[in-house]
Amino acid sequence: MRTRDDAIDDALDDARRRFTAANPASLEQFRTNARYMPGANSRSILFYPPYPLTIVRGEGATVWDADGHRYADFIGEYTAGLYGHSAPEIREAVDEAMRAGISLTGHNLLEGKLARLLCERFPALELVRFTNSGTEANLMAITAALRFTGRRKVVVFSGAYHGGVLGFGAQPGPTTVPFDFIVLPYNDAEGAVARIGAESTDLAAVLVEPMLGAGGCIPADPQFLHALRDAATRAGALLITDEVMTSRMGGQGLAATIGVTPDLMTLGKYIGGGMSFGAFGGRADVMALFDPRSGPLAHSGTFNNNVVTMAAGYAGLTRLFPPQAADALFERGDALRDRLNAVAADAGVALQFTGLGSLMNSHFVAGDVRRPEDVGSVDPRLRELLFFRLLDAGFYASPRGFIVLSLPVSDDDIDGFVDAIAGFVSTYSSLLMPATDSGRALLRGG
Ligand SMILES: Cc1ncc(COP(=O)(O)O)c(C=O)c1O
Repeated sequence: MRTRDDAIDDALDDARRRFTAANPASLEQFRTNARYMPGANSRSILFYPPYPLTIVRGEGATVWDADGHRYADFIGEYTAGLYGHSAPEIREAVDEAMRAGISLTGHNLLEGKLARLLCERFPALELVRFTNSGTEANLMAITAALRFTGRRKVVVFSGAYHGGVLGFGAQPGPTTVPFDFIVLPYNDAEGAVARIGAESTDLAAVLVEPMLGAGGCIPADPQFLHALRDAATRAGALLITDEVMTSRMGGQGLAATIGVTPDLMTLGKYIGGGMSFGAFGGRADVMALFDPRSGPLAHSGTFNNNVVTMAAGYAGLTRLFPPQAADALFERGDALRDRLNAVAADAGVALQFTGLGSLMNSHFVAGDVRRPEDVGSVDPRLRELLFFRLLDAGFYASPRGFIVLSLPVSDDDIDGFVDAIAGFVSTYSSLLMPATDSGRALLRGG
């Protein structure tokens, strides 16, 4: 007798077959590039089986692949693409900066403007420095905390992602840099406070995302963040909030909205206007470590103040994403998530959309999701099936279920997306667990 497990395999085989039949040009690209790059890839997140689409063009919130399919973009470059693919304000700023010279080998007129804007916008930032990525920003913030405190250990949280060499999926992975990390469960305020207290003689920093992003859009309980703030202060350690993803949440970022002021904060993604970007900053006495006139720490980077990023970042934040626009996008995202959760609830299936504002993640589980372990046993085939179903319906989202609203996404796109989720739920309802099995993940083979 065929089980539900077999039926999921069949549905996925069918989806992959249709994908392969529809995407020969992407396959050709994949095969060609695999001769020169391992797995045709230099950014792990972009791979999915059988092979990823090659995207050849984008405009507004629409992308086209190598086979000519058109998709509404609901991934937005994993949040760096907030402004979409062709905002005239960004292009003009980049053009203007380039007309004045690209590689100036010096301080320029743009970096100070962006630095001022960031310090005025994010209350935690007394002083700021630029990097080329969020990863570097976190590496520098950790380094600053180690030096400032003269201590070695750093508390991070299970499921957190702070960059390519700072991943804590389960435990630190093989590519995670060898700082002395202590990995604690997310949203366990009591456990974290106890451990931070116990480690206080050698604890340099507590590094936390106010919402786990790559870990599944799982928001921190406000009281968890407040508890970390107090415990870090008591331990003489620095609190570093990683707002690489969450700085778009409200005009001042998520930690400030919750009322928590870190000692250091890191930024990245959209703040560079879609160009390579990262930044770290915070208390003036900590950042003084990097003052080239007097501080002990060097922080180099050929492209740290490159004019293209500085110009695009300034134009984006001033012309397209002032604080009111951040508030409006947050509300728009919350409204979408409510609609998606209503679709799942009406169908009575174990599917939910967690997150805050414009960032959300699907999870095939009923019941509370407070840390990544709550979704650890979900059958990954369902996520994959949903991904292919969304592609079929003309929506480009992430294979891991991450859904991102960028500014140019239209109301029609949003309506269509909700319909696509409803279509998925009704087509595959027999493969999904009923929500009444509350809290039980759909186990592989279950
Ligand atoms: C919370 C968080 N921190 C840091 C990073 C790393 O940023 P980058 O990819 O620019 O190195 C990411 C990237 O996804 C992120 O989500």
